[in-house]
Amino acid sequence: MIVTVPGDKSITQRALILSAIADGASRLRGLLSGADPVSTAGAVRALGVAVPALLPTGAEIVVRGRGLHGLAAPGGALDLGNSGTGTRLLMGMLAGQPFRAVMTGDASLSSRPMGRVTRPLSQMGARFRYLSTEDRLPLEIEGGRLSPLSYELPVASAQIKSALLLAGVAGGVPVLLTEPGRSRDHTERMLAALGSRVHTDGSDDRWRVELREPPERLVPLDVDVPGDLSSAAFLIVLALLGGADGELTVRGVGLNPTRTGVLPVLERMGARLRIDPEPEQAGEPVGSITAGPAALSATEIGAADVVAAIDEIPILAAAAARAEGTTRITGAQELRVKETDRIRALAENLRGVGVRAEELPDGLEIEGSERPLRGEVDALGDHRIAMAFGVLSALSGNDIRVRGREVVDVSFPEFWTRLAELSPR
Ligand code: S3P
Repeated sequence: MIVTVPGDKSITQRALILSAIADGASRLRGLLSGADPVSTAGAVRALGVAVPALLPTGAEIVVRGRGLHGLAAPGGALDLGNSGTGTRLLMGMLAGQPFRAVMTGDASLSSRPMGRVTRPLSQMGARFRYLSTEDRLPLEIEGGRLSPLSYELPVASAQIKSALLLAGVAGGVPVLLTEPGRSRDHTERMLAALGSRVHTDGSDDRWRVELREPPERLVPLDVDVPGDLSSAAFLIVLALLGGADGELTVRGVGLNPTRTGVLPVLERMGARLRIDPEPEQAGEPVGSITAGPAALSATEIGAADVVAAIDEIPILAAAAARAEGTTRITGAQELRVKETDRIRALAENLRGVGVRAEELPDGLEIEGSERPLRGEVDALGDHRIAMAFGVLSALSGNDIRVRGREVVDVSFPEFWTRLAELSPR
């Protein structure tokens, strides 16, 4: 069976935000139309940019950018829903705008730390006021004239890095960042496509990212967003665990090397994956991934694996529950501040369906088995928790009900339909 997955969430968000401040009409195809980009598009519209409705078909939309200095103060609060990426990247862009804006989000987003972005943006000269709880949404940002920034990120995070680069772009000031790991580089690639080079060098554990010469203007984008590897990973593991009725090929998937950490981990567990390159899209490597049923065994997943597989730990944990032996995941403390505390959510839900799983401060230990898994799990407002257990629920012998399953709309709206097609039981 050959399938595709919706557009990459990270790239879609960046395409919407950067086209808002480009000069003129950007043509965007293959955008994800899930809840997160819909929230970001709504916020961009509230800043005075005409953004058409995002289309589930991924058909082209044209965004008429207003240039680096053309955004308007929003009439009301910008509601970013569940989207951490939308919130943090827009904060960076707003830091360079001479007006105030209030940002809000849903319960999950309002429990996530924002100080990691507001602190360095404050150093640049933006002003923030927390409206309810310190370090959390809702908050008010007042942008304006910014100073250059030289900053060491406390964690490898593409959201922090991208927010600061966008502040440099919007504020017209240089930004020099060092990261303790190489987080996804979609912003750097897209800025390069818009005529603004970001210099990078260093080692994997001390990566330098530098916007030396902020651009005078950004040219419009013309992109085809590749499929989201983070969505494809659920289907690939489904096929590995024998839930897709044989071999499965996912076509048109983004294979940016800062994102593909899940593939070598699965190969270590015994997966045989075939990767066939396809033409580049949006300055990103693309290809198809083919997988079939395999006997998986446990592995160690450590800090070195985690940065490039940060969003795939939930599905790797599901794979570990069906692998022979005990898988140990460490160095993954960032999972505690995702859409939910994913370490706790995985441990509790795995135990809830009969898997032996222990929480570690920075990860999990999961004992694989062939026992039928039965029970009800709670997605806890987290799309990737819902989908990881969705994959387990589709395997024969298991009887798992996922509460709050509609949250998949955030990144993969057709997940349940696709699962039912691939795994008719
Ligand atoms: C993202 C960065 C990552 C990732 C998130 C998307 C992005 O978050 O987990 O799903 O698009 O920049 P962090 O920057 O918090 O690691």
